[in-house]
Amino acid sequence: MKGLVGLEETIIRFEHVTKQYDHNDPAVLKDVSFEIQRGKFYTLLGPSGCGKTTILRLIAGFTEPSKGNIYFNGKVINRVPANERQVNTVFQDYALFPHLNVFENVAFGLRIKGLKNEAIKAKVLEALRFVNLSGYENREITEMSGGQRQRVAIARAIVNEPEILLLDEPLSALDLKLRTEMQYELRELQRRLGITFIFVTHDQEEALAMSDEIFVLNEGTIQQSGTPTDIYDEPINRFVADFIGESNIVKGRMLRDFEVEIAGKTFECVDQGLNEGETVDIVIRPEDLEITSHESGKLQVRVDTQLFRGVHYEISCYDDTGNEWLVHSTRKATVGERIGLTFEPEAIHVMRLGETEEEFDKRLESYEESGGGDSHGS
Ligand SMILES: Nc1ncnc2c1ncn2[C@@H]1O[C@H](COP(=O)(O)OP(=O)(O)OP(=O)(O)O)[C@@H](O)[C@H]1O
Ligand SMILES: [Mg+2]
Repeated sequence: MKGLVGLEETIIRFEHVTKQYDHNDPAVLKDVSFEIQRGKFYTLLGPSGCGKTTILRLIAGFTEPSKGNIYFNGKVINRVPANERQVNTVFQDYALFPHLNVFENVAFGLRIKGLKNEAIKAKVLEALRFVNLSGYENREITEMSGGQRQRVAIARAIVNEPEILLLDEPLSALDLKLRTEMQYELRELQRRLGITFIFVTHDQEEALAMSDEIFVLNEGTIQQSGTPTDIYDEPINRFVADFIGESNIVKGRMLRDFEVEIAGKTFECVDQGLNEGETVDIVIRPEDLEITSHESGKLQVRVDTQLFRGVHYEISCYDDTGNEWLVHSTRKATVGERIGLTFEPEAIHVMRLGETEEEFDKRLESYEESGGGDSHGS
């Protein structure tokens, strides 16, 4: 199995990177460290202003870190100019040249590099084929739809055969249907090309659908990194739980190992190793809650509102202590009705206040170890 591990190759590494655009301004990236493996699809996800574009600009070489180091294939590249990096960027507005046709837009960088006409033609046609735009060479950019322009922008970036492709919210200008199509196409393209993609979005569904790995950012720090399922199933804190998917986030108290108090009631959970009486944040996903009769529920609530969402009803309820509970159910409820809610112990996610990602990972690992077999063993 050692060979498999060896396939993972770090292409970009941030080591304690801090970025201040001006030394009087607050830092927009604060001591950020992460690794990017070659050939994977990464997404930077976070609210407006959290530092996503700044990370791309640092990787592309449009700006330098104030502190820390950026490595590319093991070498520090802090001061390597943008045109000497094996990186290309697709910008949010595509930045195409309106006075050039499709062919010349894609050929632009190759002409600057001084390639011969024959070589340029071969490369441009291949790049256009990759993005399903064969036959569109002579079209004017102004005659292309939003989705087609987006593909021209990608062709222009991949024609240079970069090792890394940076994509800054490339789909945000498209309508929902086209956007979903392009998500699929981009993901396919990444698989076919085998290039490392670093994709920026503030749309959590897009991030979950497309990525091998997601970095969730807030206010210049990485809150959590992991696969979409890691982050969805085990959010590290209130911010991540709230940002990724719909969640019920309530206050709770650890009574002892495997027992937590929520809304004045005691529930079995799978968490251990926390302090007795420790105040915690609790997450339960709406799809993990099931509606029962009032008496047989683990939790008693009153239905406040109900919306039909196509596949399920979204039902908002309140318990007697004032917590709101969102439920996704194929069963209809009645507004004002008192119902019960039930859930599995695994549906309760306990989050320690202020826990770092490292401490969090360690804690989860310890559960797997003790749950995986003989906990009294040698
Ligand atoms: N050239 C600049 N000079 C000074 N401050 C900047 C500059 N570029 C960005 N900032 C600031 O840095 C912070 C992070 O900006 P950044 O563009 O990285 O955010 P973002 O996560 O990409 O946001 P959005 O989703 O809105 O694109 C913001 O507070 C922004 O105002
Ligand atoms: Mg941005």
